Amino acid sequence: MRIAVIGGGTMGSGIGQIAATHGHQTVIVDSSKDQLKRSKAGLQKILARLVEKGRLTRDESVATLDRISFSTDIEATSGSGLVVEAIIEDLAAKQAVFDQIEKHVDSSAIIATNTSSLSVTSVAGSCKEPQRVAGMHFFNPAPVMALVEIVPGVATDESTINAIMNVARSWGKVPVVVKDTPGFIVNRVARCFYSESLRIVDEGLATPAEVDEALRSAGFRMGPFELMDLIGNDINLAVTRSVFAAFHFDQRYKPSFTQERLVEAGRLGRKSGSGYFMYGDDAEKPAVDLGSSKAAMIIDRVVAMIINDAIDTVFWGVASPGDVDIAMTKGVNYPRGPIEWGKEIGYPVIIERIESLRSRYMEDRYRVSPLLRDLASNQVDFDG
Ligand code: NAI
Repeated sequence: MRIAVIGGGTMGSGIGQIAATHGHQTVIVDSSKDQLKRSKAGLQKILARLVEKGRLTRDESVATLDRISFSTDIEATSGSGLVVEAIIEDLAAKQAVFDQIEKHVDSSAIIATNTSSLSVTSVAGSCKEPQRVAGMHFFNPAPVMALVEIVPGVATDESTINAIMNVARSWGKVPVVVKDTPGFIVNRVARCFYSESLRIVDEGLATPAEVDEALRSAGFRMGPFELMDLIGNDINLAVTRSVFAAFHFDQRYKPSFTQERLVEAGRLGRKSGSGYFMYGDDAEKPAVDLGSSKAAMIIDRVVAMIINDAIDTVFWGVASPGDVDIAMTKGVNYPRGPIEWGKEIGYPVIIERIESLRSRYMEDRYRVSPLLRDLASNQVDFDG
């Protein structure tokens, strides 16, 4: 099957690499000639590195590159069985591209969007055949991260979802089906990791370095602040704002003034030389002397909020408990699936932590998921 990827940026190039590595004739389409040059050069470099590391033979690398063509003309999608759109995150631009794709591919072709924050239904909204449109949400770097969130829109056929799941599996990915809701699984549940950490800092209860240290000690590969500095505070804030607005301003996903001020100051993180921390040759890492009770307060709060939101995701039928755990471990490398983690800590303990925050702050943000209560009272059991 021929594959077309629209957008040759970070994600499109990575998705093109995956398709070609798995033997598909692949075309990467981008409106910018320069971007296509960068995409090609980037792929050559990545494949050369894989050969150096012994993960690919030289012949395989040459064959993979030979399978990829580059074009600025969307007509190059014709003959494709699957088109994956990965252009800029802009609804009008995506709808215009979908309109063009539909003109060039057969009606048997499946069209997917890699959108991370728009509703798949809205992207498919202007399509003539929305039943063959779905979300296929990869994680960065796409060739490395196993998770793919597969998102049916309101009009998507089941056969479309089955076909995309099969393609994702044949590419060695772990696909999970997610309801078309803001942030899908990962970008929604992960908001709590950032948001509760920022809240602790906003209140002056701990410094960013202390929060990072505590959460690393709980098994997270990176603390939330060093991670936001790596992702870019502008990018992280944009995702938070979009999830917050899409949830009709649910306080659980509220952005933080601290992060907003940093973005306004141009302190975007590593890429600008400073964010929560300073970067550069003479930058010193802040010393941390974290007492065990402060560490426990940080871990208990942040982990409880993640677990509660993960369970609420299941409550609202966004995904199954197993898929939520797969998503958080394979999409963002959490040390444990939050639902399994909740069971281990004990559902009543999580309720107690959230209710104590609620009684202190009297905020809607700290509300226990109805499903968490049902689990705690054994009215529901995920295992049985
Ligand atoms: P990017 O900015 O690296 O690449 C976007 C590319 O689209 C650019 O090369 C641009 O020239 C091209 N483009 C823009 N309008 C176009 C059009 N009308 N026709 C053809 N090409 C066009 O962006 P990135 O990061 O690769 O993101 C792409 C999509 O993937 C977005 O929807 C984003 O939300 C989503 N995404 C991004 C992730 C990330 O970590 N960067 C993770 C998962 C999804």
